[in-house]
Amino acid sequence: MQLEARYFRAAVIYALLGLLLGIHMASSQDHTQMPTHAHLLLLGWVSLFLAGGFFRLYPTVQGKLAAAHWWIANIGILVMVPGVGLIMAGIEGPGVPLASGGALIVLFGMAIFAWLVFRATKRA
Ligand code: HEM
Ligand code: HEM
Repeated sequence: MQLEARYFRAAVIYALLGLLLGIHMASSQDHTQMPTHAHLLLLGWVSLFLAGGFFRLYPTVQGKLAAAHWWIANIGILVMVPGVGLIMAGIEGPGVPLASGGALIVLFGMAIFAWLVFRATKRA
């Protein structure tokens, strides 16, 4: 499967999960999980969909590092967002290390992405 297709597919899964959480928050009138909802959608749906668009715009930048970025970005989201969910639910014991560890993985992924963007746009 093409790299950008993997980004778009992951993004729409996060969109569905984020929207379900948003609807649950709205219908229960309990907005405690707002940061979980916000970061699931902004890191998962928005950021990954944008990355997919970028790799479509700059197909020559695809390679091992770009493929590694997909994994690192997804692992970061899948560690950080449940961590935020646990913190917001008051379960800080496992929540804090997951959220902060996941955030560092997300940051590492974004550093790789920044490198790829700079490399791709060097002569643009
Ligand atoms: C079915 C669609 C959605 C529902 C029912 C929904 C529901 C909600 C609810 C109930 C809140 C809490 C509001 C508050 O307590 O002030 C919220 C906040 C938020 N939502 Fe959604 N949402 C939806 C879609 C989205 C989408 C598509 C995105 C982003 C792509 C998004 C991003 C956010 C953000 C960033 C916040 C935090 C806003 C702030 O800082 O005040 N939501 N949403
Ligand atoms: C390493 C990644 C990130 C970390 C550690 C992080 C951390 C945080 C923290 C601590 C808050 C305050 C939450 C609160 O007041 O309860 C917040 C809010 C927010 N962040 Fe992030 N953030 C990250 C990535 C992002 C990204 C990539 C976006 C957008 C593309 C984003 C958009 C927002 C928005 C809209 C809010 C306000 C809504 C809310 O309170 O949940 N964040 N973030």
